[in-house]
Amino acid sequence: MIPLVKVAMPPRESLLSALEEVLYSGFIGEGEHVYHFEKCFAETFGLPIALGVSSGTAALHLAILLADVKPGDEVITTSMTAEPTNVVILQCGAVPVFADVEPDTGNLDPASVESLIGPRTRAIVVVHYAGFPAPLAALRTLADRHDIVLIEDAAHSLGATYGGQGIGTVGDFAIFSFQAIKHMTTIDGGMLTMRDLGKVELARRLRWFGLAKGVPRTEVDITRYGFKYNMHNVAAVIGLAQLKWIRSLIDRHIANGRFFDECIPKIAGLSITRFEPTAAPSYWLYSVLSDDSEGVERRLAAVDVAASKLHRPNHLHSVFAAMRRPLPGLDTFYRRLTHLPCGWWVTDADRERIIDALSKG
Ligand SMILES: Cc1ncc(COP(=O)(O)O)c(C=O)c1O
Repeated sequence: MIPLVKVAMPPRESLLSALEEVLYSGFIGEGEHVYHFEKCFAETFGLPIALGVSSGTAALHLAILLADVKPGDEVITTSMTAEPTNVVILQCGAVPVFADVEPDTGNLDPASVESLIGPRTRAIVVVHYAGFPAPLAALRTLADRHDIVLIEDAAHSLGATYGGQGIGTVGDFAIFSFQAIKHMTTIDGGMLTMRDLGKVELARRLRWFGLAKGVPRTEVDITRYGFKYNMHNVAAVIGLAQLKWIRSLIDRHIANGRFFDECIPKIAGLSITRFEPTAAPSYWLYSVLSDDSEGVERRLAAVDVAASKLHRPNHLHSVFAAMRRPLPGLDTFYRRLTHLPCGWWVTDADRERIIDALSKG
């Protein structure tokens, strides 16, 4: 079976000796390896700064706090995502306001976002769903016009670009996830980036209980409490090993994605996920759209290819019941959606098999 997602571990020779060294170094907590990983990650993906944390969820929680979202504030967001995107809004005591998505992308529809901006709106959280960049230019304009903060949840889109820039550089804040099945993993981990470097020190304190690093522990003072969200050296060593091969790995996702972009529109009844001409997706998953998504799943299962939907639209969870509103674009996208495997493990022969099976459908 070709799996839909797969854990990407770097080759043993580039990982195990470094891992052994850090494990027995006596320095397994947050330290030099984390700071080195942050620097290399920012350089690799063209980010102004990178702060390592324990998960993408932790990074999102910090981004929302740094955006100064207060209890009772509204955050305009998407339901077409993994749950952490919206659970952290609740954790801040804020109200997720679900904007609709474009039926042919699954990404936030700027017109819907605009219609929901009100006096209590403090931030917009945008997800680049499945690795396809959302319409960032329009969302940036809206955020600037209404003086609200734009947060990019780039958990699916490591290595994507928008307007020739690394994904995560248009928002005021952006986050990445290194959870098990993402483009790259540190087992668990995440990265936070931001445009206003004036907030970096606060972010560093918030990821470590509110304590400033480097100040003697008996003298340091917590003025605002934070969280145990730091990244540790062991995760950072895995991250550093991942960075050595991440470009080739992402390139393979992109090559497979472009192959599908080329072949699928020629198949009757199927269409592909649209993206803006200045955007370059990193195709964490491939999203194919049809009026018979279950039929697509069945046809691929018959040739040993795992294809399916991956997330439950968040507003369907009971915890978000009070925030439900009509989302016709999402309903259409979700009904028509099937994800195809598209990552580094999909060989030329595999992708031919997928296209062949779909062509016979
Ligand atoms: C869109 C999205 N946002 C946020 C997260 C949270 O990342 P993590 O699992 O690293 O906490 C995930 C992944 O689980 C995700 O898919």
